[in-house]
Amino acid sequence: MIKLNENFLKLTSSYLFAEIAKRVAAFQKDNPQKEIIRLGIGDVTRPLSKACVEAFRKAVDEMGEPGGFRGYGPDQGYAFLREQIAKNDFLPRGAEVGVDEIFVSDGAKCDTANIQELFAQDITVAVPDPVYPVYVDTNVMAGRTGSAADGRYGGLVYLEGTPENGFIPGPPDCHVDLIYLCFPNNPTGAAATKDQLKAWVDYARWEKALILFDAAYEAFISDPSIPRSIYEIDGAREVAVEFRSFSKTAGFTGTRCAFTVVPSSCMVYDSNGKAHSLKDLWNRRHATKFNGVSYPVQRAAEAVYLGDGPAQIRETVNYYMTNAKLIKEKMAALGYTCTGGVNAPYVWIECKSDSWKFFDTLLQNAGVVCTPGAGFGKCGEGFIRISAFNSRENVEKALERIGAVC
Ligand code: MLT
Repeated sequence: MIKLNENFLKLTSSYLFAEIAKRVAAFQKDNPQKEIIRLGIGDVTRPLSKACVEAFRKAVDEMGEPGGFRGYGPDQGYAFLREQIAKNDFLPRGAEVGVDEIFVSDGAKCDTANIQELFAQDITVAVPDPVYPVYVDTNVMAGRTGSAADGRYGGLVYLEGTPENGFIPGPPDCHVDLIYLCFPNNPTGAAATKDQLKAWVDYARWEKALILFDAAYEAFISDPSIPRSIYEIDGAREVAVEFRSFSKTAGFTGTRCAFTVVPSSCMVYDSNGKAHSLKDLWNRRHATKFNGVSYPVQRAAEAVYLGDGPAQIRETVNYYMTNAKLIKEKMAALGYTCTGGVNAPYVWIECKSDSWKFFDTLLQNAGVVCTPGAGFGKCGEGFIRISAFNSRENVEKALERIGAVC
């Protein structure tokens, strides 16, 4: 008899964005004439930049020539891409990242989901609340939690993000082994300062813990004093892995390219306390379970850093951030307290009611899809998230409709 991994039965509901898609599809079926504006899932809508498209096309042509064809690529990704990443994303910020410490992949979601495989079953895991659900769900699937009760899983340490702490929780006063942090934050849009990140790095060094730092939204930071990488903090190379993505930065949600940095100084410990290189272990896993991102996609990602690429990418990021500003201004004018939208493409709005109810109200009365805060955890109840990843026209139309409803 084929037996089930019963940890899957502990999962409380379907994946948040699948549940939203289901509700939206049901509404659309009942109201086929109604035009729906999607400001829910953070899926980009602007086309790829010209620089990326040209590089992509050129690489596809190369693949069709006997002299340019390539089969399996290098396990960690092509050096041409990793070199540009190290040179442009980290060096100018004073963050030391070696080309050999970068692992190109098909998504930060997959990497943040997969990396927990490297750690023992009985570690203590800390997750923010509200939180990107992937961090929690993958630890549930792996059996690191008890069952769910009252919106929380037994065994996890929840780091509460509240209006009082500006949605930036500090280190707990207990020991944990693995810490998930995401800044600029999804869903709240809050961005941590150097001092706030330093407190985490110091904690992790003291506790011999590891920080999994999701920086998928770093391109949206507008405040120059906000760190874009955790490696801008002294000591982070010993205790932090960083996840980055081209999805939101360069419109690659459908094209798929991301990378993870695992510094060679990051260690994990066996049951005898002996240190092992996390980078070597991640490399081992990557080589066994992943066959790389296609050559044309890696060339398209490289174009983000070359010639007209950076200016084109910046223009798209600015476009979304103007949307974010409009969303924040309108919701504030309607009397809602808002966070985010300045260093992140998400606006986190206190809706002062049941967040799924508010979601349904906006969907049914305004034809606008948002993301209910409760889907991100208990502390998300009473909030909704509005994403800036749509056209200006749709954002303006959605805000007008929300204004009429609220
Ligand atoms: C989100 O809306 O939170 C993100 O788009 C989800 C993701 O990047 O996987």
